[in-house]
Amino acid sequence: MSFRVRMEETARAKGSKIVLALDFPFEKPENRESLFHRAESVLEAAHQHVCAVKINHHLVLPLGLFNGVQKLVDKAHSLGLMAIIDCKANDIGSTNQVIAEYYYAAGFDALIANPFIGWEEGIKPIFDVARRLKRGIILLAYMSHKGASEGYGQAVIDQKTGEKIPQYILFAKRALLWNADGVVVGATYPEKIREIREILGAKTPIYSPGIGAQGGEIKAALNAGARYLIVGRAIAQASNPAEAAKQIRALATV
Ligand code: XMP
Repeated sequence: MSFRVRMEETARAKGSKIVLALDFPFEKPENRESLFHRAESVLEAAHQHVCAVKINHHLVLPLGLFNGVQKLVDKAHSLGLMAIIDCKANDIGSTNQVIAEYYYAAGFDALIANPFIGWEEGIKPIFDVARRLKRGIILLAYMSHKGASEGYGQAVIDQKTGEKIPQYILFAKRALLWNADGVVVGATYPEKIREIREILGAKTPIYSPGIGAQGGEIKAALNAGARYLIVGRAIAQASNPAEAAKQIRALATV
């Protein structure tokens, strides 16, 4: 079963569109163990209200992949959640291939990659690994931060048609062409979600970060066509992560 379908089924079973980003502030390396336990306890507290967990450098750097983050991935799976690595793979193909092999070997169901690198000797090797292992690839289309327009919003010439179009439109078209399992579009830009959704249709789900801490709004993102909401600090760093996750999930039920 493809990642896309497994994600859909997990979201239905859990009754949640929320992907929990397990992000925490910098901790001194000697506090790694308490960071691990904090991540584990947030996961245990919030798991009933989310369908997936997303892990980023916040945990991979201090904890390491095998024996550190891998334990959280196993925990997520034992709680019935999917696990996504937000590594934004962005290198030459041979390096990307190794990055993908390691993250998938640690149990991740999908990884996030940057389409800026292009297909040949860029992103294709990740798709080759993902298809062989039946895992997912989610591509960036328009990021959630303020400076996103400088890259994802710039006007570019489509090499195939000679047409001048925004970079994110080209990325959305490529996500369809490459059969990506999803694209990331910031909740802080609902109008971009709408435009990208028009290109993708229902086939390729939109994952939308930027709710809460970055100012994005749940209803606006969902109404514009987001399928999943990625939420980090508003849950992981809340004084009561279970309650925060419950409230956000309720607001995301439409
Ligand atoms: P917050 O705390 O803002 O965390 O809810 C959001 C999480 O998502 C990541 N993030 C992104 N990841 N494309 C991505 O692939 C994006 O546009 C994007 N914006 C935020 C962020 O690093 C954090 O883990």
